[in-house]
Amino acid sequence: MWTQKRVVVAVTGGIAAYKTCSLVSKLRQEGAEVKVAMTKNATSFISPECFEALARTKVYVDLWGSAEEIPHISLGQECDLVVVAPATANILAKMAHGIADDLVSTMLLAATAPVVVVPSMNAVMWEHPAVQANLKILADRGVRVVNPDVGNLACGTSGRGRFPELDRIMAEMAKAVTVQSYQGKRVLVTAGPTREYLDPVRFLSNPSTGKMGLAIAKAAWQRGAEVTLILGPCETKVPDYINHVPVVSAEEMLEAVLSHLANTDLLFMTAAVADYRPKCEAAEKIKKTQSDLSTLELTRNPDILLQVKAVRRPEQIIVGFAAETAADLVELAKKKLTAKGLDYIVANRVHKTDKGFSSSVQSEVVILGKDGSYRHYQEINKEELAHSLCDLIATANQL
Ligand SMILES: Cc1cc2nc3c(=O)[nH]c(=O)nc-3n(C[C@H](O)[C@H](O)[C@H](O)COP(=O)(O)O)c2cc1C
Repeated sequence: MWTQKRVVVAVTGGIAAYKTCSLVSKLRQEGAEVKVAMTKNATSFISPECFEALARTKVYVDLWGSAEEIPHISLGQECDLVVVAPATANILAKMAHGIADDLVSTMLLAATAPVVVVPSMNAVMWEHPAVQANLKILADRGVRVVNPDVGNLACGTSGRGRFPELDRIMAEMAKAVTVQSYQGKRVLVTAGPTREYLDPVRFLSNPSTGKMGLAIAKAAWQRGAEVTLILGPCETKVPDYINHVPVVSAEEMLEAVLSHLANTDLLFMTAAVADYRPKCEAAEKIKKTQSDLSTLELTRNPDILLQVKAVRRPEQIIVGFAAETAADLVELAKKKLTAKGLDYIVANRVHKTDKGFSSSVQSEVVILGKDGSYRHYQEINKEELAHSLCDLIATANQL
């Protein structure tokens, strides 16, 4: 995502200025070329040398410098994105009212790249009508505002004003530089395993982690969609910008899918749903005896894709996922695409070694579309696959 992207990080004089070090570091790790500009007040919180070491380039503080470059013009015009983090109440006011009295504020007035602000301040300051009015002016003007988190604040109080988690800032920044091809679309994603209980403490399940579904949910959100993730029991943490519906069993997952389906434009079914469940769930823990437990009777779970096929609207886009161990991935994918009435299918090979389930890489993936789309990857990272799939669907369907 960030490889060869040019990002200007503007640091202003808030107590969270030290947290921006992690942001600069993360952007560099992800391949971005980072330039840092600081206000004079920001340098009271953290030294420019610190950012110089992290960004591996000169940090800009002064409006007045060498004659060779005019950073207050070039910085915001020769980059892909400007992020102001932390953004003080003061810089928000200056931006809203066009005040240009130092390097950062002048650079922001001259910037032609998209701008993201990450305000962080005391909760009373945050709620002040002047701050809220300035934020509205900026948002109406197209500046992307990353709202602060609620929590403990440096001043010893608590409330909204905390500098947000790095992942959310990175996601908002990614959104700011991505074409909003899914704007106005409602995307439903299923992910994770299901659990089919034998008794109150034992269940049948599989090692699905929900990572593939979460990657798709994030990729669709980044493209402007409103996203709901129906997630089976797993460790995956869902960011708060994605609506999260937790479920346990296949039957619960079916119910959740059907209840959201009417309000869905695109459905991605990545969940590893159990095909069978115990015929009876014991009310009490099954006791150990001297003899074997020779029979475990199972019954078929509902086939969610077939149920969706029966009630879907033709204009909805339904994408199925299939994890296969069999040799002919493409043949299997073709059959499933037709049998389940899908628009697209993503088939991947899973091995006993767990690759594909809990790994962040999918080994051998085939994407087939009923429109003739075909993509084949020998190995692909789940995030890359999610972006590639979302883009393929957007292009093929002129989203
Ligand atoms: C210890 C200390 C902590 C501060 N923290 C914040 C803060 O978190 N957010 C904020 O908006 N202002 C904060 N301020 C106030 C700003 O530093 C002040 O408004 C300053 O004028 C901002 O200048 P700048 O926007 O040019 O960097 C703090 C001030 C002090 C002395």
